[in-house]
This record gives sequence, C-alpha cells and structure tokens, in this order.
Amino acid sequence: MPIEPTHRFLRACHSLPVDQTPVWLMRQAGRYLPEYMRVRQQAGDFLTLCKNPDLATEVTLQPVYRFNMDAAILFSDILVVPEAMGMTLFFETGEGPVLEPVLRTPADLRCLRPVDPEERLGYVLQTVVQIRQALNGKIPLIGFSGSPWTLATYMIEGGSSKTFRYIKGMLFDQPALLQQLLDQISDVVVDYLNAQIAHGVQAVQIFDTWGGVLGPREFVAFSLRSIQRIVDRLHRVGPDGQKVPIILFAKGCGSLLEEMIGTGCDVIGLDWTTDAASARHRAAGRVALQGNLDPAVLYASPEIIRMQVGRLLRDFGTEPGHIFNLGHGVAQDMDPSRIADLVTAVQEESRLLLRYRQAGEE
Ligand code: CP3
Repeated sequence: MPIEPTHRFLRACHSLPVDQTPVWLMRQAGRYLPEYMRVRQQAGDFLTLCKNPDLATEVTLQPVYRFNMDAAILFSDILVVPEAMGMTLFFETGEGPVLEPVLRTPADLRCLRPVDPEERLGYVLQTVVQIRQALNGKIPLIGFSGSPWTLATYMIEGGSSKTFRYIKGMLFDQPALLQQLLDQISDVVVDYLNAQIAHGVQAVQIFDTWGGVLGPREFVAFSLRSIQRIVDRLHRVGPDGQKVPIILFAKGCGSLLEEMIGTGCDVIGLDWTTDAASARHRAAGRVALQGNLDPAVLYASPEIIRMQVGRLLRDFGTEPGHIFNLGHGVAQDMDPSRIADLVTAVQEESRLLLRYRQAGEE
C-alpha cells in the first residue's frame, strides 16, 4: 500500500484535504531573479549551468527560500533530451534555443540514438539527488520532461517556431514518419522520467507547450497518444513508497480536458484561457487541477494581484484538489516583489476560505 503524503502539494495532487492551497510557479527559477543572474554568470552560460549539479541545485532552491513555495522544480530544460539523443543544442542570445541538424527525412531520423539516462543525462540525475539532500524533506521536488510532440517541434523546426510549417507539413504529408519519431522520443522520455523518479523526484510534470497549435483530432492522434504511452509506463510509486503524481500541462488545450483526463494523469495543468469553475465541473473530481492565473496579473498592483487570487481561489472552490500556479511561466521582466505578493495572497486567502468551509459558513 502506498503511503499517504503529508506535504500539502502532494496531498493536493492526490485530491486529499489540505490546510491551505499549495502554490508553486512554472519558471519560478530564472532570469527575473538577480540571484539567478549571478549564478548564471558564474557558470558562463545557461547550458553549462544546467550541467553543473551544484549550481543547478542552488538556482532550484533560490525561489523556494525567497518565496516559501510549496514545491521545488528541478532546474534543467526540456531540450537536454534531444541533445542526449544526438542533436547539438545551443542558445543564441535573444534568439532562443537552436537544435542542429534539423530532422526532415527518414535518413535524418537515423542519426538519433537511444538514450541511457544514467550515461547521457547523469548530470540531471545527480542534480535530483543533491536537491533532495538540500531540501531534507522540507518540501517535495517536481521532475519534468517535454512531451514528445513539443520536443519534436524543436527537433524538426530546429528551434522555436511561429508557424510550425515543417512539423505540420510532416504531420499531414508523412504521418507515419512523424509517429515513428514521436515513438522514439516517447521511449526516451519514459526511461528519463523513470530515472528521475528512481533518483528522488516526488512528482513529474509533462510540458506540452505546443499541443495547442494542433487541431483537436491531431492533438489526440499526435500529442496525446504519445503522452498516453508515457503515462502507461511510468513507475508511479517512488523508492520511498509514496505515490508519484503525474501532472500534464498542455498549453492551449483546455477544450480537450476530458481527453487529457482520459490518459490517467493525476493532475491537469490549465492555462489562463480556461475557466476554472467550469473546468472543476467538467473534471468532476476525477483529477486535481493546477493553475491558472494569467501571468500578466503580475504586472498589476499588489491590491489587484490579491483580488485576482481571491477570485480564482473561489472559482476553483474548496473541494480538495487544487494546486495554485500561473497559466504559464514567470516572465523575465517580472518583479520578484510581485511574486512575493502573489504567493502570500494565495497562502492567506486560501487559508481563510478553507477555514470558512470547515465552519460550514460558506
Ligand atoms: O523554474 C523552472 O520552471 C524550472 C526550469 C525550466 C526551464 N525550462 C529553465 C529555463 C523548465 C521547467 C523549462 C522547460 C522548458 N524549456 C519549456 C516548457 C515550459 C514552457 O515554458 O512552456 C520549453 C518550451 C523550454 C525551451 C526553452 N528553454 C526556451 C523556449 C527557452 C527560452 C530561450 C530564451 O532565450 O528566452 C529556454 C531557456 C531557459 N530554460 C531559461 C530558463 C531559466 C532561460 C535561460 C537563460 O538565459 O538563463
């Protein structure tokens, strides 16, 4: 029998009652924090930082201590997976990520190799071990991977894209070739996430950042299909005997909530275009929900931030199974003091709301 979790983040992932709504933020570590910029400078560049377990541990913990978050997220990047498969990865300043050589033909796919995570991504696993040691049970650690579809967009386009012309061209012209690539990536992601779990991550999040560029039929056939393959193969009990929840965040896919729930994930992450109250109704207690404040609220005043937080908490309601997050990541130009205002508002407002519910005064 798996052990019942005590941390409020893990309890909420399993739709168990909590004392206040747990909160963490996508991209909580990063360039908006001056202490991150100092460590990145020390490392030289972003990728070197990711590959240095001491420094990656340090930047993972920065937002956790500064803001009193309910979970830490492993500091790394989704694109280390294509790099481990044999592609060359670099980050052009101001241009975003670049992956070479682009994959367009069956011959191109042959240069990809299977991945032994211990061998090719050992630095990530070492970082997981060090973060767990540093956290010392205080709060849980979330591991992650990109979804096969989202990783494939970078591998086929060669980096970020606005139109997704090459991968969508392949989807409609050579669907079997694309499925072959997606299966190949899925196998790597399964082994990678299972290795993260074996080394101590206590939850995993699958980022399908670009699922929303697909039509509904294509989302199910090309993105959800490989996510399903992963969910079916993950070890969902960690080495400590606790259940390891799977969070699926597919940006722009709120209209397909039922299909996402059908994969068997424990938590669905919502972006800010989905109405929280109706998502709650549609989910009907089958999964926990994570989200989904518009990140742009962080550009507003502390008073407005608190008002928006209160409103969203009431929309999600007081039944167990809500993890507070933004609808997407913290941006580079955001003010750390506004993040502090947000986290405090979630903690205080949710505590009040839950107390009223207990007293039956709602
Ligand atoms: O705090 C955290 O959330 C953990 C760290 C994390 C990063 N990337 C750090 C990062 C996580 C979970 C990611 C995931 C990731 N990486 C995604 C999925 C999530 C999402 O945002 O939708 C995607 C699409 C990527 C790919 C990627 N990596 C992009 C598009 C960029 C931005 C490039 C740029 O120059 O703006 C990155 C780089 C990156 N990943 C940074 C950080 C902190 C910035 C690097 C830097 O310059 O220091």
